[in-house]
Amino acid sequence: MLTGDRPTGKLHLGHFVGSIENRVRLQHEYETFLIIADLHMLTTRNTRKDIDEVSRNARDMVLDQLSAGIDPEHATFYLQSAIPEVCELNTLFQNLVTVPRLERVPSLKDMARAAGKVEMPYGLLGYPVLQTADILCVKGDIVPVGKDNHAHVEVTREVARRFNFLYGEVFPIPELVESQITTLIGTDGQSKMSKSLGNAIMLSDDAATVRRKVIGMYTDPNRVRADIPGTVEGNPVFAYHDAFNDDPAEVADLKERYRAGRVGDVEVKDRLTSAVNRYLEPMRERRAGFERQSGLVDEIIVDGTERTRREVQVVLAEVKRAMGITGSYNQLRRKAEQARKRRDA
Ligand code: TRP
Repeated sequence: MLTGDRPTGKLHLGHFVGSIENRVRLQHEYETFLIIADLHMLTTRNTRKDIDEVSRNARDMVLDQLSAGIDPEHATFYLQSAIPEVCELNTLFQNLVTVPRLERVPSLKDMARAAGKVEMPYGLLGYPVLQTADILCVKGDIVPVGKDNHAHVEVTREVARRFNFLYGEVFPIPELVESQITTLIGTDGQSKMSKSLGNAIMLSDDAATVRRKVIGMYTDPNRVRADIPGTVEGNPVFAYHDAFNDDPAEVADLKERYRAGRVGDVEVKDRLTSAVNRYLEPMRERRAGFERQSGLVDEIIVDGTERTRREVQVVLAEVKRAMGITGSYNQLRRKAEQARKRRDA
């Protein structure tokens, strides 16, 4: 299994239900690689300042995942840019997909627009190809990702098939694993949870911060008094109750009273605060355990990167052998060697 994220900052509940939860579950079934995709980050954020933040963001993101239940004994974290062999694979895969095919990937246009780009950068158009290199560099079988990445994995499958057709069966055709809940609405009720929009509850938020954010949540705007019947559907407070409250009877009771105009927003939010804090509490405990050992997270990333790189080198060698690239240089070397011997004789 291979999945991961660009190192743009701390993770929030949307990441958790969209992806991290799947990783935690699947890490016991598959050998697991978790990429910190800093080269992908460069497709939209490539200032020196962005790059200088990678190590801190990587550390935060890995700590978030460890807190969420990723076991470093089961999963291997690695930093993409520290494995240059991935770029070599990217170069080789670039010829197995066309520009019009990549232009049809909807998420790329969205990312370009969100980054304020007037025209599509070459690297961003190639985003799914680099992602293909990530997935195939360890011969990934399973790729759990959110909706916005589904089209990328589809490109990966096509490239893997094309490679196998041209050069022999080297790669598995990776399977996409969809998340149970694909997108979590933000606390503002306007768009999906996103750190940059300021509508996120972070996995690292403390209990008081969770309380403040939940109290400030958007609810049914037509409900100006507690005795007015409210709407549960599409109400973010109830979406969170459904996603995080471990007490379904409480949720059912709140919904019923809300619809009947027999419960105030304050109680609904108080109970949501408690539910989200119950949900995050085990993560806080694990986080504290990892934080007590200074440098441990860095060590996990560096050891994982080195372990992954060794695996990738084996796969790259197989790829170049299958394509005949190794052979081209070997022929030249053999002739050069013969020439040298003749001269020396
Ligand atoms: N594209 C992912 C994101 O949206 C990050 C990523 C890069 C990734 N390489 C990957 C995900 C390989 C799964 C597999 O941030």
